[in-house]
Amino acid sequence: MNKDIIGIDLGTANTNIYSSVSDSVIFSEPTVIALDSFTKEIKEIGFLASRIQGKTPYNYIVKTPVENGLIDDEEACTLFLSKIFSQLKLTKAFKGTSLLFSAPSRCSQVNRNAIAQIGKDLAVREIFIESQAKLAAIGAGENVYSPTGTLVCNIGAGITDIAVISMGEVVNCGSTFIAGRTFDDAIRRYMIQKQHLSIGYKSAEYIKMRIGNLNPLSENRLVEIKGRDTITSLPSSMIVSSGEIRKVMAPLAEYLALKITDVISMIQPELSADILTNGLLLTGGGSLLQGLKDILQSLLSIPVRVAEDPMEATSSGMRIFSQNLKKTK
Ligand SMILES: Nc1ncnc2c1ncn2[C@@H]1O[C@H](COP(=O)(O)OP(=O)(O)OP(=O)(O)O)[C@@H](O)[C@H]1O
Ligand SMILES: [Mg+2]
Repeated sequence: MNKDIIGIDLGTANTNIYSSVSDSVIFSEPTVIALDSFTKEIKEIGFLASRIQGKTPYNYIVKTPVENGLIDDEEACTLFLSKIFSQLKLTKAFKGTSLLFSAPSRCSQVNRNAIAQIGKDLAVREIFIESQAKLAAIGAGENVYSPTGTLVCNIGAGITDIAVISMGEVVNCGSTFIAGRTFDDAIRRYMIQKQHLSIGYKSAEYIKMRIGNLNPLSENRLVEIKGRDTITSLPSSMIVSSGEIRKVMAPLAEYLALKITDVISMIQPELSADILTNGLLLTGGGSLLQGLKDILQSLLSIPVRVAEDPMEATSSGMRIFSQNLKKTK
């Protein structure tokens, strides 16, 4: 295949786009689009749209078209991608282009159809849909084409894609909606219910990234957080500790370990032996949560490692996969 390939990782939080023309990632921004409420004209996308999220006046609608790793608003996704491509002056070149989409390993027909429709609306030559966990493993430098089992868990914002791969194919897989955002939601609920402080999603994510640590042996850290007192309804702030946040997050990590166990429990014993040796590879932004690797290691009793650039693993994988695709076709 000597045609161009554009790799699209439409994530719940972030979209990464790779182009084989420049052999580089040409877009890496939040999956957010802001529209005019009346004319539906696109106002902003990506970082600029994300900045106004939660602060919009009546004449703006801000949409996050991917929810839980799946296409939730096909029309908004097409608008979002069209805008990116027109900004990058790529629209005209589409006739001979193939799109490579990353999607959860066990992707429903409904989601496949939504992706196919987006490809049709963008008038591209052909589309490929490939397992996100597999692409992330390739991007992290794993040799997924060898007859050795690779266990990978890509923890995104809205979905965790777990797969065992051997000889280039997904042998068994599973997914759960316990991912980065679930930790944020749990922190928000805790703050409202136990601390009577209503905080925004971005503040909850900030707590998680700044002081969240699942390792009980880690240092107890503090952060000041601002919000609205749910009793007085007045602006208020309070100090939160990593110890209390750990208690909120730990049950979610335990659930994640159970989902990984479910996937491992269904594979052939020879592959289990490989996994005992090779361990678990974590990719995706959610794997940056401090102490997650340690807690999974102790719950699963296998070595756990985090990819070098976990958030870039899928787009790096798309790059390698596209190059191979071009050679073989
Ligand atoms: N340092 C960090 N500590 C903890 N979590 C982090 C950190 N950095 C990023 N994250 C989390 O990573 C998630 C985003 O990761 P990623 O970009 O891989 O998701 P996505 O591809 O958009 O989502 P999905 O694959 O679920 O559709 C967010 O939930 C974010 O809070
Ligand atoms: Mg992702």
